[in-house]
Amino acid sequence: MERIRTPSAMRAWADARRAEGARIGLVPTMGYLHEGHMSLVSVAKAAGSEVVAATIFVNPMQFAPGEDFEKYPRDEERDLAMLEAAGVDAVYLPGVGEMYPEGHQTFVDVTGVSQGLCGAERPGHFRGVATVVAKLFLAAKPHAAVFGEKDCQQLAVIRAMTRDLDFGIEIIGAPIVREGDGLAMSSRNAYLSGEDRIAARCLSRGLFRAKALFDAGERDAGTLVGAARKEIETEPRAKMEYAEGRDPDTLAPIAGRVEAVTILLAAKVGPARLIDNITLGKTIPGRDAS
Ligand code: PAJ
Repeated sequence: MERIRTPSAMRAWADARRAEGARIGLVPTMGYLHEGHMSLVSVAKAAGSEVVAATIFVNPMQFAPGEDFEKYPRDEERDLAMLEAAGVDAVYLPGVGEMYPEGHQTFVDVTGVSQGLCGAERPGHFRGVATVVAKLFLAAKPHAAVFGEKDCQQLAVIRAMTRDLDFGIEIIGAPIVREGDGLAMSSRNAYLSGEDRIAARCLSRGLFRAKALFDAGERDAGTLVGAARKEIETEPRAKMEYAEGRDPDTLAPIAGRVEAVTILLAAKVGPARLIDNITLGKTIPGRDAS
């Protein structure tokens, strides 16, 4: 497995693979890897990538001042061992100085779908995500890139950017990987201990409660979202940021009777900001079946 630390070396690797005729799959991450990340590697391979590159870069641009950039968990050696064991061909680990040298002044702003939800709670977050992902795409020159449905709005932002800027890269969504008790895997779960870890179940419990109602025939978006919201509101250690029902295809707000809905949740539990979502009534390839 090659370890690559500069944009020019990454482009050279990608050019060489393309010259060999290989189809490149890309898995961007911020490291501190877990089974959710590793599932993306499997999805990249299953989708026909002949070589897979992963990236590890904790991107300061997508953290607002006062967020957890400094204390975001990092373990490069463990991450590299996991990626190597999974058969990843190259890992791109640029430093902040390589990604944002003095004088950096160009940004990618996806407007509509970046607004609301996490975009409202974290101003500038999706601008940072879109900018770094554009740079990773230009360095790694993938044919396909895989992103988790766990970050549902992020996936929508990246799909919009890829389409609008004519990147010509296939964007593949991968299903949410959960712990045994339902909690969606996340590097930030490392912030949870003891009672907070147990309390964190309220997000997935809320989503599963909504799914049970939907499966029993409930179709009112407000009732479905309300059932999820209640699980968070009644958990004393959780502080809700949002619980919303959105159109599964566009993430536009929806209300009233629905045939399909994506319910998105964000809450703080102790020191961790957690997000989760479920899509009901529609099986989107790669998205949680319902
Ligand atoms: P990170 O949080 O490390 O996540 C990297 C990728 O793993 C994302 O596509 C995310 O959706 C996916 N992922 C995380 N937890 C998952 C889970 N439980 N199941 C399935 N997929 C999961 O998302 C980022 O990093 C960054 O914003 C990034 C896109 C790398 C840009 O900096």
